[in-house]
Amino acid sequence: MPSSQHLLPILLVPLIAILTYQATSQSRSGFSPLLNLHNDVLSFFPLVLLRLGAPVSLLPSLGISTTSIVEAYIKRETPIAKAGVLANIGSNGSKCRGAKPGIIIASPSTEDPDYLYTWTRDAALVTRMLVDEYGSGADTSLKSILDDFVSSQHSLQQVSNPSGPALTGGLGEPKFHINHSAFTEPWGRPQHDGPALRASTLITFTKILLKNKDAAQSFVTDKIWPIIQLDLDYVVVYWNRTGFDLWEEVTSSSFFTTAVQHRALREGASFARSIGQIKAAAIYSTQADNALCFLQSYWNREENYITSNTGGGRSGKDANSALASIHTFDVSAGCDAVTFQPCSDKALASLIVYVDVFRDIYAINRGIPVTKAIATGRYPEDVYQGGHPWYLTTAAVAEQLYDALTVWDLQQRIEITNTSLAFFRRFLDTAEPKTYTSLTDEYTILTKEVKEYADGFLAVNARYTPLDGSLAEQYHRDNGKPLSALDLTWSYAASLTAFTAREKKILPSNWEWGAKGLKVPSVCKSNTGPTVPVTFNVDAKTVYGENIYITGSNEALGNWFPERAVKLSAAKYPIWTATLKIHSSISFEFKYIRKTAEGKIVWEEGPNRSLTTPSSGHPETHDTW
Ligand SMILES: *[C@@H]1O[C@H](CO)[C@@H](O)[C@H](O)[C@H]1NC(C)=O
Ligand SMILES: *[C@@H]1O[C@H](CO)[C@@H](O)[C@H](O)[C@H]1NC(C)=O
Ligand SMILES: *[C@@H]1O[C@H](CO)[C@@H](O)[C@H](O)[C@H]1NC(C)=O
Ligand SMILES: *[C@@H]1O[C@H](CO)[C@@H](O)[C@H](O)[C@H]1NC(C)=O
Ligand SMILES: *[C@@H]1O[C@H](CO)[C@@H](O)[C@H](O)[C@H]1NC(C)=O
Repeated sequence: MPSSQHLLPILLVPLIAILTYQATSQSRSGFSPLLNLHNDVLSFFPLVLLRLGAPVSLLPSLGISTTSIVEAYIKRETPIAKAGVLANIGSNGSKCRGAKPGIIIASPSTEDPDYLYTWTRDAALVTRMLVDEYGSGADTSLKSILDDFVSSQHSLQQVSNPSGPALTGGLGEPKFHINHSAFTEPWGRPQHDGPALRASTLITFTKILLKNKDAAQSFVTDKIWPIIQLDLDYVVVYWNRTGFDLWEEVTSSSFFTTAVQHRALREGASFARSIGQIKAAAIYSTQADNALCFLQSYWNREENYITSNTGGGRSGKDANSALASIHTFDVSAGCDAVTFQPCSDKALASLIVYVDVFRDIYAINRGIPVTKAIATGRYPEDVYQGGHPWYLTTAAVAEQLYDALTVWDLQQRIEITNTSLAFFRRFLDTAEPKTYTSLTDEYTILTKEVKEYADGFLAVNARYTPLDGSLAEQYHRDNGKPLSALDLTWSYAASLTAFTAREKKILPSNWEWGAKGLKVPSVCKSNTGPTVPVTFNVDAKTVYGENIYITGSNEALGNWFPERAVKLSAAKYPIWTATLKIHSSISFEFKYIRKTAEGKIVWEEGPNRSLTTPSSGHPETHDTW
């Protein structure tokens, strides 16, 4: 191993080579890094060292701190990430030809994976970042893009799609073509977080418009409110049903989905009240209480973490929970654990459980001490595109910690409970379950160490960001090479929101959405909605010992899990039949399966069958296998 004195010249040679190379070639993303480089070569220098393979842990011996790496990264990456987002918004974005105005594509990648679609969730989260920039005065030129976004969502809401028409399930459709037409191939649908996220983003935007007098009251009541209302009415009906989670892979209940639904209903209630929609406000408020009650059930008391995902046989340790905390952050709620605020004992305890599962499974993390940051992915069982670390999940960890620092700074104290003790002991082994005010040494040490830990996550992303600053979806778990979708809009937006959180800026979306001082109702009420009886008849010949079952894409049919499939009766053999209560006015898919005497499962061949239930009545199927 060369000493650090020798390392510097060794690294400088390739640095100069790269500068020369960059000078003579236009970078892929169309930016000219060289110009920026010459302006502040010194602050950029740590990034170049990182890209050349210098381990983050080595840089301090060269006199380069994590702070200086992160500050250099933020300075360099901010304009690139912002341009990266804008390039992916129609119709003027340079990388999304064919996208209608206000349509936000997930990524320009059209192959392996094909992401040239607009997802309701991603678009709402990216737009929240733009709304915050607009509302905080950082970039008022965004108004026209935001207006386009509003119009595009109004139009998308009305598109009939495989999840149903607008008023009966269609809002749960996760993604659309960029020309507004429905995507009709098989997919993990429905997903219930999109409408909630969109409603929250639009409410924040509308509050800003009203405050700045940038829009007439009639524009709000006639144009924006109907969009918000459709989404909130959807959340009212669907919050208590399973659906595909934010990673689109398993049908279950999902912490992220419930958390953002609670937020949307809660802020929706007070927004509705403010514009005189009293009846709607009462409905949203009741269901917000119910959703908040249900939200508590994700907490795993024994193992001290949030079980993000209750399906698919997973551990439930998932970026889902960190993302939920940062997207339901309300500065005014302090460190309240009822809404799992970023600095709440539960959210902090959960964060390190989530982070630590990636220490062993990614080679690039090996050997890094437990008090230091690492690259994180979606969840440990992930195999999608190889199941690598993601930029946006690693940035989310940093953001949650920055949010926590913001609140501690405002309240000038840190409260440690038994639940969060393990988190704080990691940084100070003498920490006790008590309150440390800002006058104590412990407060000073803890805030310094947590800041350093948080910065570490951005430094890890910096380490694996290519020199041109472009952000893909993932980077390789063994060598850190970017992979999967390139120029992922959400990677750029997640980096920008983490950067802003580091400055302790209080943004419109994080201010008084209603999380402050909430009480959990003593009894959790369900809201499963009306059902209709559906009789399934299938003509199927079987051999002795064989039985016919039905499974499909909803709770009553066992959500495609063969072990939860429903057995049909052979009383009218060869017609097998079952009558099940299924939600009214929904579309779903299903199949019949055979379970042999030996317990083997045989699926029906061909495409999935589908059915839409009416609002009342008693539909029957007459199928043949
Ligand atoms: C897109 O470009 C057109 C033509 O230059 C311009 O009129 C329009 O305002 C732009 N849209 C946005 C959202 O900036
Ligand atoms: C919209 O785009 C999709 C995918 O490119 C295409 O199949 C479809 O025909 C387009 N629809 C219209 C109305 O242009
Ligand atoms: C519906 O809410 C009840 C009460 O909180 C809860 O027990 C149940 O698990 C929820 N079901 C789903 C699918 O959300
Ligand atoms: C915290 O844990 C300690 C030791 O296990 C226990 O004695 C104490 O009662 C706990 N405090 C609370 C508030 O649960
Ligand atoms: C049926 O639906 C399931 C769950 O969405 C999906 O995995 C499967 O590919 C579908 N099958 C066909 C043949 O479309």
